[in-house]
Amino acid sequence: MAVLCLALAAAPVLATAAEEVNLYSARKEALIKPLLDRFTAETGIEVNLVTGKADALLQRLQSEGRNSPADVLLTVDAGNLHRAKAAGLTQAFVSETIAEAVPKTYRDPEGHWVGLSLRARPIMYVKGEVDPAELSTYEALANEQWRERICIRSSSNVYNQSLVASIIAANGSEAAQDWAEAIVANMARPPKGGDRDQIKAAAAGQCDIAIANTYYLAGMLTSDDPGEKEPAEKIAVFWPNQPGAGDGRGTHVNVSGAAMTAAAEHPEAAVALIEFLVSPEAQAWYAEVNGEYPVREGVEISPVLAAWGRFEADDLELSELGELNGAALMLMDRAGWR
Ligand SMILES: [Fe+2]
Repeated sequence: MAVLCLALAAAPVLATAAEEVNLYSARKEALIKPLLDRFTAETGIEVNLVTGKADALLQRLQSEGRNSPADVLLTVDAGNLHRAKAAGLTQAFVSETIAEAVPKTYRDPEGHWVGLSLRARPIMYVKGEVDPAELSTYEALANEQWRERICIRSSSNVYNQSLVASIIAANGSEAAQDWAEAIVANMARPPKGGDRDQIKAAAAGQCDIAIANTYYLAGMLTSDDPGEKEPAEKIAVFWPNQPGAGDGRGTHVNVSGAAMTAAAEHPEAAVALIEFLVSPEAQAWYAEVNGEYPVREGVEISPVLAAWGRFEADDLELSELGELNGAALMLMDRAGWR
């Protein structure tokens, strides 16, 4: 009861005081700024935005230590959020609003970070080159049938580290090791480029299968640049590991998310900002602009995403992806996944 009274008493203070919150964001300004402006208009809390690459922002937080002005870190992938937490750069925060809005699997169990948008990493294939009836699971991509037919980026990328971490969680280290070795054998070329480059390589006939995050394909499909749009139109999405396929655990998903920094000097404003970002209104805009899925249920998805149909997501707690990140990296290295 005492806690509840405190929370109620704190609310009006937020609205009247000239407050601010300092945000380090690995998401580009265009993808976040309109939302921050809306937050300021609604709450009177100013947001000071610093954008940068995910790794650079982590390094910056680390070197600034306790003197860091940052209150909130916005970054992509549970692997990065976990890294920030493991390095002692974040702290726990409590919010009923956030706990109610965001499923448990998309939040750190100790409350250091929360997912804000959801991305899937399905199998993409070239229409006409692959019959989707031949596809079923991530595990089945290890079959001989796919020898030298798969495009996938390097193991230095956190997205693949998280994908392999999900394979370890589902099947154990030994099976994951065999899987990674078979994937390396099935690569059409040594890994190079980002996710968009895998999609383009598949469209150009260099491989039949590409592994990429959904928002890259969405971004290409909605691009004005024919160099992006035309290759994307040759590609279809296949949702692996759906009920009935293999263990039916669901397609591998990940989040972009927010963490409160250990050095935060504006923790109330930080929580208010994160609460705003999980509100239905913010979720709809944020997911649409980024070509991602909302983390909360009941928010409409963009037509591009809706066209790919509904899918079951792996319900593994995403914090596990962080816990298994080191093991995944070592395993990929041993498999010769460059
Ligand atoms: Fe990305």
